[in-house]
Amino acid sequence: MGLALGDFYSNFNLLMRWLHVFAAIIWVGHLYFFNFVNLQLQASLDDDAKKIVNPQLMPRALWWFRWGAMITFIAGLVLFTMIYMYTPGQGFGPTALFRSEGHITGRAIWILFGMSFAVMMWYNVWFKIWPAQKKILSKQATGDEATKLRTLAAKRSRMNTYLSGPMLFGMLAPSHYGSLNVVTLGVATAVGLIVIFRCYHLSKSAGKTV
Ligand code: HEM
Repeated sequence: MGLALGDFYSNFNLLMRWLHVFAAIIWVGHLYFFNFVNLQLQASLDDDAKKIVNPQLMPRALWWFRWGAMITFIAGLVLFTMIYMYTPGQGFGPTALFRSEGHITGRAIWILFGMSFAVMMWYNVWFKIWPAQKKILSKQATGDEATKLRTLAAKRSRMNTYLSGPMLFGMLAPSHYGSLNVVTLGVATAVGLIVIFRCYHLSKSAGKTV
């Protein structure tokens, strides 16, 4: 068996999958840091300490967070196009993995489920969380306005953390599970949400003592 180095489609597909998951680790890693570590850290700092820590910590963390989100999103759209909307040798259009015998496939429903959650997450990062944080950190917003923006950013960040649980099943199921099963979809959603809920709970005590 050859290495299929000449098969551009397969190699590009693998490279895009790698880039997609690499960037997703950076993005969601920071999301979990914000929600499972930093929330607790901030609660333990007084205002003076916050003034020293946050102008150093937040711009750096938010840089990796938002660019991770953007690259995950772009590589994800490339993957979607390659897998579901392009057939090598035939060109663009719904592929056999997307539509079969006139019906949308289970696999396509799985990825559309994952993608709708992930796109909401990306939207929250770029159009809610980052604009709010940018105004706060640059002191364009102060006082009540800053408090409002902080609440908005925190809500969307929490929403993204919850979405990430079920979303990840939607990313993994298409090529590792295949057909859609309504019960599985429901159980996957529930497991995703419960695990995130438990992580929030755990974050109250995790690592508090050595
Ligand atoms: C932002 C919008 C996103 C889009 C448009 C998107 C799209 C896709 C597509 C089309 C696939 C290929 C599915 C298949 O094999 O049929 C995929 C796979 C995957 N995605 Fe995403 N995705 C997004 C966000 C995310 C996020 C936030 C994560 C994780 C935190 C993620 C993790 C993964 C993983 C782990 C795979 C599976 C790779 C594999 O098993 O080969 N994706 N994604």
